[in-house]
Amino acid sequence: MVFFGLVPILLSFLLLLSSVNAFPHYAIERRGIQDLSAFENTVNDIIKRADIPKLHKEARERHLGKRQVSWSPSQLVDVTGEHRFIPPTPDQTRGPCPGLNVLANHGYFDRSGVTNLVESVNALTSVFNMGPDTALALVAYSIAIIGDPVALTWSIGRGLGKSTLLPGVLSPPGGIDQSHNAYESDASITRGDSYLHNGDVWSVQLDTFKHLYALQPNASTADYTFDVIVEQRRYTIDKSINENPNFFYAPFSGLVVATAAHNFVGNFFANHSAERPEGYLDQATLKSFFSIQGDTIDELKWVPGNERFPDNWYKPSVPYTLVDVVTNVLKVVEKVPQAGKVGGNTGKVNSFVGVDIGDLTGGALNAQSLLEGNNLLCFGLAAARTGLPSVLGGATSLLGNALNFLDSKLGSILPDLACPRIDKWNLSLFNQFPGSG
Ligand code: HEM
Ligand SMILES: *[C@@H]1O[C@H](CO)[C@@H](O)[C@H](O)[C@H]1NC(C)=O
Ligand SMILES: *[C@@H]1O[C@H](CO)[C@@H](O)[C@H](O)[C@H]1NC(C)=O
Ligand SMILES: *[C@@H]1O[C@H](CO)[C@@H](O)[C@H](O)[C@H]1NC(C)=O
Repeated sequence: MVFFGLVPILLSFLLLLSSVNAFPHYAIERRGIQDLSAFENTVNDIIKRADIPKLHKEARERHLGKRQVSWSPSQLVDVTGEHRFIPPTPDQTRGPCPGLNVLANHGYFDRSGVTNLVESVNALTSVFNMGPDTALALVAYSIAIIGDPVALTWSIGRGLGKSTLLPGVLSPPGGIDQSHNAYESDASITRGDSYLHNGDVWSVQLDTFKHLYALQPNASTADYTFDVIVEQRRYTIDKSINENPNFFYAPFSGLVVATAAHNFVGNFFANHSAERPEGYLDQATLKSFFSIQGDTIDELKWVPGNERFPDNWYKPSVPYTLVDVVTNVLKVVEKVPQAGKVGGNTGKVNSFVGVDIGDLTGGALNAQSLLEGNNLLCFGLAAARTGLPSVLGGATSLLGNALNFLDSKLGSILPDLACPRIDKWNLSLFNQFPGSG
């Protein structure tokens, strides 16, 4: 999200951010974190090193077909020596994100599954060529909601167990496993819905994976392109509506994160070769990243902790920026309108109610304007910032402080957003959804 020197927009955005008073307990719980200076300095450093406006300009040109995708042998990812595959031991953790799991399995993240700000941003940018803006936003949000903003650590799976947080924080932060509706969402590309699986949001549900797999059934021609993944998005939303009485699709974790995570499969897992610089994702590579083994569809099984970079695998040449995240989420919503509707089931299957975006945002946006310009990103961010809809148990102080911090820092990595002011959320609209808690 960024402001190419558009000072007036930046100022209005910062004003908008500072006007949000989403945390009534903020002042009381503020004692949880005294000093975010390490967080701040590290984030500043990362922002300084990357020419984010240039990356965004190039991403826009690429989406307009004005820029070619290149290839170089240096895109080969090292899977030898210290980066050889080693599955986790029982005291190491893995979680719902195959991209993070594979980095830990190859020692690009600490193999424990608990990583830190610098290590994780470096690994995401260098190993997967995630844009520095995207990596920083994802990691900083992780640290803010489920990590330790003093030690700058966070867990890709189970909770950290201990933290450097000061007295006043009621419970140590969980990992990504514990971030349901704040980060992790229902209607994931292969993981199960929280309600249907008693909170197990990290295991691959084989039937859901098999659906994706079978979209390209011929092993010799299978190619999981963006358009194929879009069909899986249609399936995952409809499946949750049809099967989960408590399905909930939140503004940030659902519409933005879970949809973007679908798109990540087509972009990041594909093998980028000289012949196919834009990427080619076949069955073997798909299975390797999802920790799935077996040859025929009937033999497929999920083997936890075995996400693996294939040998001779080449990462993308193009950094995946926040411009790509937003553009591609909007492309999905264009083809699958139900992926653009925030809301949920009301306690029965097939009872989906979409909340009126106008009512939800106090008139700042409506169903149509949501999909125009940068509004979707503005909306997702404003929602993320409020911790909406659920504030995570004992970690609320963390959330309040760290998200306020993010407001002030991340403004400078956002694409050129002229965000409408969204500061009047009507959260009572979510009361009708049992899955929103
Ligand atoms: C710091 C960086 C990242 C964070 C914090 C993160 C976090 C998450 C979270 C919270 C989910 C759960 C979303 C849901 O419930 O549907 C998720 C899912 C996913 N992520 Fe990541 N992710 C990161 C980077 C990546 C990267 C680099 C990739 C690809 C290389 C990736 C691929 C995926 C995929 C494919 C899923 C869907 C998993 C499934 O449903 O099977 N993520 N990630
Ligand atoms: C799979 O694709 C190949 C190459 O196009 C083709 O020769 C083969 O008949 C296809 N197999 C099936 C089962 O459709
Ligand atoms: C990736 O593409 C290159 C070039 O075609 C090929 O040599 C390599 O085996 C492929 N890797 C995978 C994992 O398919
Ligand atoms: C918020 O939504 C509820 C439920 O639809 C409605 O009764 C209430 O009037 C709304 N509040 C505001 C301030 O618009």
